[in-house]
Amino acid sequence: MNELTRDFFIKIGISDGMTVLDVGCGGGVTTEILSEIVGANGKVIGVDPNQKAINLASQKTQSNNFKNVEYVCTDIFKYSNKEGEFDAIVGRRVLMYLPDPKGAISQLSSLLKSDGIMGFQEHDSTSIINKDKMPLHFKANQWIWELVKKNGGNIHIGKELWSIFSHNSLTIQNIKSEAIIQSPNNNISLVPTLQSLSRLLLANKVVSEEELSEKNLYDGLESERTKSDCLFIREVIFFISTKKIAEN
Ligand SMILES: C[S@@+](CC[C@H](N)C(=O)[O-])C[C@H]1O[C@@H](n2cnc3c(N)ncnc32)[C@H](O)[C@@H]1O
Repeated sequence: MNELTRDFFIKIGISDGMTVLDVGCGGGVTTEILSEIVGANGKVIGVDPNQKAINLASQKTQSNNFKNVEYVCTDIFKYSNKEGEFDAIVGRRVLMYLPDPKGAISQLSSLLKSDGIMGFQEHDSTSIINKDKMPLHFKANQWIWELVKKNGGNIHIGKELWSIFSHNSLTIQNIKSEAIIQSPNNNISLVPTLQSLSRLLLANKVVSEEELSEKNLYDGLESERTKSDCLFIREVIFFISTKKIAEN
């Protein structure tokens, strides 16, 4: 997924020397991608209200020796900076967690320079296919989306994106989507994702110990995938990019 994100940032025009705001930076994965793209002459500010995530991101960025990064622990609705400060404002999987994403975009647009770039990557559960042919995948994939929902995520954000970005100071440049597809032989497996989320799935009571430790769950998933004769779409990623309308 990080490669998709990096390509997206480059395609929308993020480049050497820019000052970029990373909204909802979490543990700093996207912030570090941006840091590499803008280089030593640029700067990236990552903001997130989760202090633990900010601490983790700061430690990681320090040990990875990224010198052009700053983190701020704040809710994006409370974040203020100089008007027109940023060449670009981006985020990944964050609008889906905001109570008022349209309001956030409106507020953020004032922080953009004239002609500045705004680009977001959001994930959506809508287009899952072949649920009848892959029942175990369907069940396990639903657990993951249930977890997102329990944590306040809008799992159908895709259909709202046009409206969220319809703002009189922005022009929508491009919207595209990319499906995460499992096939019998493409090595994209649900198993590592489930394993990495198992603690959260249990803590949020999405699954029981018994369901998750079902002896054959992981083997069953792999067997269902490799023996299937179909594709399974786990999620659809939407990429949207806009530009701030130049002031006369
Ligand atoms: C799914 S994580 C994505 C983290 C990161 N963007 C990434 O893709 O690795 C969503 C992040 O949005 C942050 N978030 C939620 N509400 C927010 C708000 N009001 N302002 C800024 N960030 C927020 C959460 O704290 C969390 O770190």
